[in-house]
Amino acid sequence: MNIAIVASECAPFAKTGGLADVVGALPRYLAERGADVRVFIPKYDSVDEKKFGLVYQDSLGPFPVRVGGIARTVYIHTAVIPRSTVPVYFIDCREFYHRGTIYTEHWDEDERFILLNKAVIELCQRMQWAPDVFHCNDWQTGLLPVLVKDNYSWDRMFDRTAFLYSIHNIGYQGRFSFDTIAKAELRPEYGRGGLLDHDNSFCMMKGGILFSEVISTVSGTYAQEVLTPEYGSGMQDLLRMRKDDFFGVLNGIDTDEWDPRTDPHIPFHYSADDLAVKRKNTQALLEKTGMTYRPDVPVIGIVSRLVPQKGFDMIAEAIDGLMQLKAQWVILGSGDEEYERLFSAMSRALPQTCWSYIGFNNPLAHLIEAGADMFLMPSRYEPCGLNQMYSLRYGTVPIVRKTGGLADTVHDWHEYQYLGKDGGNGFSFNDANGAALLATVKRAIDSFHLPDEWAAIQRNGMREDCSWQHSAGEYIRLYERAIASRK
Ligand code: ADP
Ligand code: GLC
Repeated sequence: MNIAIVASECAPFAKTGGLADVVGALPRYLAERGADVRVFIPKYDSVDEKKFGLVYQDSLGPFPVRVGGIARTVYIHTAVIPRSTVPVYFIDCREFYHRGTIYTEHWDEDERFILLNKAVIELCQRMQWAPDVFHCNDWQTGLLPVLVKDNYSWDRMFDRTAFLYSIHNIGYQGRFSFDTIAKAELRPEYGRGGLLDHDNSFCMMKGGILFSEVISTVSGTYAQEVLTPEYGSGMQDLLRMRKDDFFGVLNGIDTDEWDPRTDPHIPFHYSADDLAVKRKNTQALLEKTGMTYRPDVPVIGIVSRLVPQKGFDMIAEAIDGLMQLKAQWVILGSGDEEYERLFSAMSRALPQTCWSYIGFNNPLAHLIEAGADMFLMPSRYEPCGLNQMYSLRYGTVPIVRKTGGLADTVHDWHEYQYLGKDGGNGFSFNDANGAALLATVKRAIDSFHLPDEWAAIQRNGMREDCSWQHSAGEYIRLYERAIASRK
């Protein structure tokens, strides 16, 4: 089976969030199952050519790709995903991708990803490699099925190519003005009042949803939630229309990259059998922050994009109460200025209680997962979420709001006890407000002071199988379904 995975991010080359982790891990597991899988992403200036051994392919380029009537020159580089033989094709176009950040708010953001879609199609043509499935991800690749089935339909090589469109976050839909139609050279009928009109804007995600054989999102609960007005961000009716072809597949995690027994980013390796070692990482983490280690005080970690999706307004609402708890906070993130300022201010005002690092820092993310006792993720919505799964694996007890993938992976200890069920592995709450959040953090801290109970919660988490093994098989089934229904 030939699978082309197209996305705007892929770890470790280019990452702002979980999409990169998924695109960097899933292909390895598909390849193990015998698929010829290839990944296609832009070559941003942040991609470290030397570190990742990128090779310029002069037999595959340069070639021109037209966007908005202008021919842009595209160069192709390749590398392999670490610990695999999966090739990654990097689409290089200096004007579009050398801008310091992966995403921009520039006027031509639409053009940057129109170029990605067209370049991938034209690269496949040049390689004479016809995917059985184009696996597209998020709005940046929503136009790919539209382009293949319309603009490029003259090329019979794609006649049997099917599409799986995966929604990682319905909050980002790739909405632009109708001028985008001309830039993509799509037929004007798709525009105002047409198929890709969504609430008076041109919507790339709608292309993915309408033109793909199969649609998926990244957890079962989120797949249900997005069918409702509360979570659907306006896409609920469209998804309901396609609900027979719409599935939730829970993300896995890369269990080699995130393994407390071998993680090169942490000073002390440990497993469920020697949990005491974990607290040495706590000491190391606190040393880094300048906070004094206190054996009876739990450390609560946060690693996140600082955006409203992640529930930072609830944290802000409860901040006074949270900071008065007998706990120490280690926060890593970047995003909205309002939240960056809040955490910086807390660290300055309470240097023994709160430490924050504003920025992106992968080694620190690993150290926080290993060193923190608890991990807070009170998301308003969470398609899947990966950090709570990293936390489970690191014996770091997650405290989450019960939504999307968080609801599917974190089982509240007290709720499970009440129901007489084993396997409680964290703490969760329903109501999206500061009071519910504060009460749940307090519950977790109370449990922390009961060592046997705490160790049981940690072990339950470490026992969970969050690997890709199961979900990779689910994706193969979705690919097969897409192929079978290609018209
Ligand atoms: P999302 O994709 O919505 O941001 P996920 O939980 O799926 O949420 O994935 C987030 C990923 O990004 C995780 O791998 C997390 O460790 C990483 N991450 C987020 N913010 C940072 C940061 N500031 N520094 C390092 N890693 C980060
Ligand atoms: C998105 C979601 C996150 C998910 C990730 C990978 O960024 O916000 O919940 O884990 O994609 O699918």
